[in-house]
Amino acid sequence: MNIIKRYLGLLFVKLLTLSIGTGAIHAQSIGEKNVYSPSNKLIVAHQEATGVIKMRMDNMKSIGAEIKKIGAMIRGKRPFDGSQIAAASERIIVYGYKFKKLFPEGTGKDPSQASQKIWTDWGGFTFAMNKMVRAATILAESGRAGNVGQVKGSYRALGKSCGGCHRVYRVKKKRRR
Ligand code: HEC
Repeated sequence: MNIIKRYLGLLFVKLLTLSIGTGAIHAQSIGEKNVYSPSNKLIVAHQEATGVIKMRMDNMKSIGAEIKKIGAMIRGKRPFDGSQIAAASERIIVYGYKFKKLFPEGTGKDPSQASQKIWTDWGGFTFAMNKMVRAATILAESGRAGNVGQVKGSYRALGKSCGGCHRVYRVKKKRRR
C-alpha cells in the first residue's frame, strides 16, 4: 500500500515537472514567433511602448505640438511671430533627422502604427521624411524673413508632407485614434 502511494506520489511529481517543462517550452516558442495569445500580446505591447516605438511616438507628438503652435499663429489665434515660427520649424527639422534611427527593422508590431511598407520601401520612407525636413526648412526661412505670405504657403506644404507620409507609411489600428 505504502509502495503504491509512494509510486503515485512520484508519478504525480513527474507529471507536474513534465507539464511545467512543456509549458515553458511552449511559452518560449510563442514568444519567439510572437503573438496572438492575449497575455503574450500584453507583454509585447508593454515592451514596445517603453522602447524605440515609444520614443518615436513621443517624437511625433512633439512634431505635432510644434506645428500646432505655428498653426495657431497662422490662424490668428496667437500673435504672429516669425522668429518663433522659425524656431518651431527648426525643432521639427531636428526631430526629422532623429527619425531615421527610430525605425529599426522589425518594430512595426502592435501597438505601433508603423506600416510594414516602411521597411519594404525604405527609400520612399526617407524621401517622405526629407520632404518634411525640406518644407520645415523653407518655413523656418520664411518665418525668419517675416514674410507672412510665404509662411502661409510653406506651412501648407509642411502639413501636406505629414499627410503624404502618414497615408502611405502609417496604418490606423483599431485600438488607437
Ligand atoms: C516620413 C514619414 C512621416 C512624416 C513625414 C510624418 N510622420 Fe507622423 N508618423 C509616421 C509614422 C510611421 C507614425 C506611426 C509611428 C508608430 O506608431 O510607431 C506617425 C505617427 C504620428 C503621430 C502619432 C504619435 C503617437 O503618439 O502615436 C503624430 C501626432 C504624428 N505622426 C504627427 C506628424 C506631424 C504633425 C507631421 C508633420 C509635421 C508628421 N507626423 C510627419 C510617419 C511620418
